[in-house]
Amino acid sequence: MSVKQHRILKGALTVPGDKSISHRAVMFSAFTSGSSCIYGLSPADDCQSTIACLKEAGLSIKRIEGEAPHYLIESRGINELVAPKKTLNAGNSGTTMRLLAGLFAGRPFASVFDGDDSLRRRPMGRVLDHLQEMGAKVEYLADPGKAPFRLSGGNLTGKDFQLTVASAQVETALLLAGLQADGETSVRIPNQVRDHTTRMFAHLGIPYQQEDGRVKVSKLQQPVAAKDIVVPGDISSAAFFIVAAACLPGSDIVLRNVGINPGRTLVLDVLSRMGANILVNETPTRCGEPVANIRVRYNGRLGPATISGEEIAKGIDEIPILSLAGALANGEFIVEGASELRHKESDRLKAIVENLKAAGADVVEREDGFKMRGVESLKGGSQWLTHNDHRLAMSALVAQLVCEKPLLIEEVHSPRISYPSFIEDLENLLEKE
Ligand code: S3P
Repeated sequence: MSVKQHRILKGALTVPGDKSISHRAVMFSAFTSGSSCIYGLSPADDCQSTIACLKEAGLSIKRIEGEAPHYLIESRGINELVAPKKTLNAGNSGTTMRLLAGLFAGRPFASVFDGDDSLRRRPMGRVLDHLQEMGAKVEYLADPGKAPFRLSGGNLTGKDFQLTVASAQVETALLLAGLQADGETSVRIPNQVRDHTTRMFAHLGIPYQQEDGRVKVSKLQQPVAAKDIVVPGDISSAAFFIVAAACLPGSDIVLRNVGINPGRTLVLDVLSRMGANILVNETPTRCGEPVANIRVRYNGRLGPATISGEEIAKGIDEIPILSLAGALANGEFIVEGASELRHKESDRLKAIVENLKAAGADVVEREDGFKMRGVESLKGGSQWLTHNDHRLAMSALVAQLVCEKPLLIEEVHSPRISYPSFIEDLENLLEKE
């Protein structure tokens, strides 16, 4: 890695398509009839896992190269999916496993789900318990509540769910099951989360209702007409450059066509509160999603911030990189109500604290977050453990730019899980000497 020599970010970049929206674009196309093109689909390994699982169940998905590369999906509706002959391998992707569990719970056959070591450790009961309440059968093949598991679907009955975890994944899984269940299914979640699911339902014409903070669906009687989808850029990927530019003196960058779904804007809200100079210029929406060009100019040392429970869900994936800005803040940086971070691709709370402490930050771990007193500069020269977690590896590569001495980064391959060209894009933005 040569990125550490240059420490100013300059120029413009279009980040790859949003991972959350890409998963939904492919999965929801299974409820349509006809041909559709998906432009800007995320190149992430996670989305390839979703594609591979749906192909296994007979959905036709082809990559078309050319001037406007895209994926061509040919679907005949959800009833046409067939029993997968092989295990559905979700790889590292929690979204693939949880959302597809909801989708396959409505199908009258059995499917076996598995994933990599990290995914096998993550809680699946939060989705599967509810799917069982709707009538699906689940057999855990190793540890209870975890993958691998066999899911036997069909004959679902709709239910009213009041979730205790603010999870867009759980909400979406239940709605996908609800579209195949008798009666009505409604889901209410405790805090605001990303609403890509209902925006995509609206774009595709999949009926749903929203009232009193609940989303309601009923059985989809026939497939909706297939429709093209254009995926906006991923704000979770953009976040690494946004934080880097806000922390590296002299930086001035523009990130083009980034999705700014109101359930995803924590990184912009928090950095603005800390005094960062961020300009958000909205551009035309893409399949009902707000989109913007985002300009970030270094504006001096950032100030303090507290991120509290209610807003965590709006940037749950951005806490690792935001914590780097917090470590350098002029004052305290507090994260609370974030215990969900212990259930991501790794225990991200523990990892954030260990890595930043080793690099010279003044930080104390708490059960549901951490508390830091910002330092003027991070010494570095320390080991940065990534636990094969893509967001920890990309945070390390940005931390490398702000540290005085090079970091010993455990591995830099995991970014392909969400952002295969991350290192290349970071190097392109770094001002050459
Ligand atoms: C996602 C929701 C979030 C997020 C994940 C993607 C989604 O998970 O962390 O990366 O696409 O719905 P939770 O809903 O479990 O918080």
